[in-house]
Amino acid sequence: MVSSGLKDGVLTGKVAFVAGGSSGINLGVAQAFARAGARVALISRSLEKIEAAAKTITDEGHEAIGMAADVRDYTAVEQALRQTADRFGKIDIVLSGAAGNFVAPALGMSANGFKTVVDIDLIGTFNVLRASFEFLNRPGASLISITAGQGARPSMFQAHVCAAKAGINMLTKCLAMEWGPAGVRVNAISPGPIEDTEGMRRLAPSAEAEQHIKSRIALRDYGAKADIAEAAIFLSTASAKYITGTILNVDGGSELGDAGGTAIPG
Ligand code: HXC
Ligand code: NAP
Repeated sequence: MVSSGLKDGVLTGKVAFVAGGSSGINLGVAQAFARAGARVALISRSLEKIEAAAKTITDEGHEAIGMAADVRDYTAVEQALRQTADRFGKIDIVLSGAAGNFVAPALGMSANGFKTVVDIDLIGTFNVLRASFEFLNRPGASLISITAGQGARPSMFQAHVCAAKAGINMLTKCLAMEWGPAGVRVNAISPGPIEDTEGMRRLAPSAEAEQHIKSRIALRDYGAKADIAEAAIFLSTASAKYITGTILNVDGGSELGDAGGTAIPG
């Protein structure tokens, strides 16, 4: 269970909706939202997984529901949002983090393989954010998408993810402009490599690959799910009330580029 040591109670009375919340970073954020006082609704494709995820939160004595909805299905997402609003009231926080990834060169990717990742990551994020608008507690709502460094920097064997996450970055800025007048803030968090996640199991499946990546990050380590949760909580409080359209890197300096080698000669 990811906790938020500094921020218990800071989201009391808030309602949070987390897309892609059955595992990994997004579940960690959902757990931390609950620890901070929010009532949390979770969606993912698998009813079994999402109900188990919600149970990790209710077992701690917090309120949570898990619903099956594929972010590629606008109607299903809308239905889950309506169920959330019916159960908990207007939604204050939306986290859009559903994603898919596999490592493959563009020539090893069918048109459908490329489309599948773009559909889940980019179109799915549009669906979640667009459908959420009518259910938001406005003004004051905070929408957060989970992007990745691949959205800002090209990466070998990640053409689908790079294209999709770059799209999320631009979508974040466009929606921030359009929805700012309604008092809705729209931001994204760009995690660096986060330990104990499916994403890193796919990208760096061996201890050698992990060490190689760590040796090139300025802070020389993977991040934790709690690091992303802290950022998401910050973006959802009044402390961030003048922040919109931002891509917040929580990445140990990964975005700066290759920091391998020694800073001081000798
Ligand atoms: C080439 C592949 C492939 C692979 C799937 N495909 N895996 N092509 N190499 N390794 C192709 C299939 O052949 C098919 O194309 C198309 O992709 C769709 O595959 P399905 O299995 O039908 O899709 P679906 O069931 O929708 O599953 C989506 C998925 C899957 C993305 C393929 O891996 C998944 O469910 N992932 C969710 C979990 C996940 O990926 N977590 C990591 C997120 S981390 P054809 O032409 O045969 O029909 C992340 C990275 C960010 O996002 C950066 C981290 C640093
Ligand atoms: P993860 O555990 O695989 O999380 C992905 C989640 O998305 C799962 O809960 C999955 O649940 C859900 N999902 C997938 N396809 C879906 C769909 N079509 N509709 C609804 N839900 C769907 O992976 P993770 O590594 O924690 O990644 C979480 C987020 O962080 C992603 O946006 C990823 O791009 C981003 N990120 C991760 C890292 C990292 O180091 N791991 C770094 C940068 C960015 P179901 O299978 O139950 O549907």
